[in-house]
Amino acid sequence: MAKATSQFVCQACGAVHRKWSGKCDDCDAWNSIVEEAIGAALPKSVATGGRKIDFVELSGAPLNEVRFVSGIGEFDRVAGGGLVPGSTTLVGGDPGIGKSTLLLQVAAALSRQGKAVYVSGEESVDQVRMRARRMGLAEAPVQLAAATAVRDIVASLDQAEAPLAAVIDSIQTMFVDTLDSAPGTVAQVRGAAQDLIRVAKRRGTALFLVGHVTKEGTIAGPRVLEHMVDTVLYFEGERGHQFRILRAVKNRFGPTDEIGVFEMTDRGLIEVANPSALFLGDREGNAVSGAAVFAGMEGTRPLLVEIQALVAPTAFGTPRRAVIGWDAARLHMVLAVLEARCGVPLAARDVYLNVAGGLKVQEPAADLAVAAALLSSLNDCPVPGQTVIFGEIGLSGEVRPVSQMESRLKEAAKLGFGAALMPRRRKRGERGDTDIAAREITHLGELVALFEQTRRPQGSAVPGPRPAKGAR
Ligand code: TYD
Ligand code: MG
Repeated sequence: MAKATSQFVCQACGAVHRKWSGKCDDCDAWNSIVEEAIGAALPKSVATGGRKIDFVELSGAPLNEVRFVSGIGEFDRVAGGGLVPGSTTLVGGDPGIGKSTLLLQVAAALSRQGKAVYVSGEESVDQVRMRARRMGLAEAPVQLAAATAVRDIVASLDQAEAPLAAVIDSIQTMFVDTLDSAPGTVAQVRGAAQDLIRVAKRRGTALFLVGHVTKEGTIAGPRVLEHMVDTVLYFEGERGHQFRILRAVKNRFGPTDEIGVFEMTDRGLIEVANPSALFLGDREGNAVSGAAVFAGMEGTRPLLVEIQALVAPTAFGTPRRAVIGWDAARLHMVLAVLEARCGVPLAARDVYLNVAGGLKVQEPAADLAVAAALLSSLNDCPVPGQTVIFGEIGLSGEVRPVSQMESRLKEAAKLGFGAALMPRRRKRGERGDTDIAAREITHLGELVALFEQTRRPQGSAVPGPRPAKGAR
């Protein structure tokens, strides 16, 4: 049999196939398989001829513990307290979300401490300059270039005065001339990243790679790219909203659950120091049914957000369930628990759920707040005033404790909330120093009862489908 000279690589997951097909068997992506030339034949065994490596003690002090701090607080915290020299950070996000804007601001901030390089493979020098001028950064001593040839970029980074930070915008536009495939393919992305990371490690440059994301929201190209870099940050946000959230999903030098909150303005990204106030900012004074305030945690920081639900009688046989900002599978679970364990009739109703402000909530601790918003809408009965809610719901309807309950209460108290619906505290008699009236809930049924008791008089107490009016 003739030796294969090419292979078929899925651009979404990196799986290698023997022949082309319309769908990748590994990740189920459609139309993602591309033919790539196979490189040199497998090298000979390396069992002989190696050089002995000198092992060292783990306890030795690292040579330099410095971190480059940009001064953009929200960014530095997500990066684990500043950038480690020689580290590589991959920044992913939807097109137009603000990756280039953020990294230009970071490069400008770092350029005041040392040499900062910004290489754009997508925009011309003039376009970047125009953007910088609009953001008031035109005077920052950033070294700018428009280039895509990795060979040239590596040579430029490997100069006598190595840059302190270098931004490559984006890795998908970079081109390694020793590889046959087109820019943006798995082989090119991997090859380009490898060479750039190597030179950054050697010269102690903090390297940023901008990565595009696929429709599914993962960084385009193989997962290998995520394994190759030290830090992976996602920049996310809803298009229609001003807020942008920078989230660490991998960090070799810091925690991964931190977020940084920014606001996109006409002068670039501005840090948001108190996001809770921002996410609750446009709440109306008088309580409406279907809205519940969730006291969440994002990393080390408590964050209050409003969860909105609308429960409406369905017009079709299959009820519609639409979710923005939360996990659809978890919504289905909460609905099922309400229905099966607490007898709440939801099977014939459409359910819409929205996290206000464009935030994506990922904690299971939001379960109880979601349930409260649903019950509030269903019964047309507002959540009791000035109350925050949190707790995880189990399949039997039990409400489980969540982490950092005191920090959540403290943040709520700071923002003027006076009461909380929450799980039972782990240790009996454990009390925080907040003066919030905490009502501990052990089973979802108690929450259901709470809303049924306080239901507005015009809402009929008769079980079964309610008139359309009840659906707001
Ligand atoms: P950009 O950083 O180019 O996005 P990405 O690199 O992730 O593709 O951001 C582009 C968007 O940001 C664009 O829709 C316009 C908006 N924007 C502002 O609103 N204000 C600004 O000052 C800048 C520079 C961009
Ligand atoms: Mg860009």
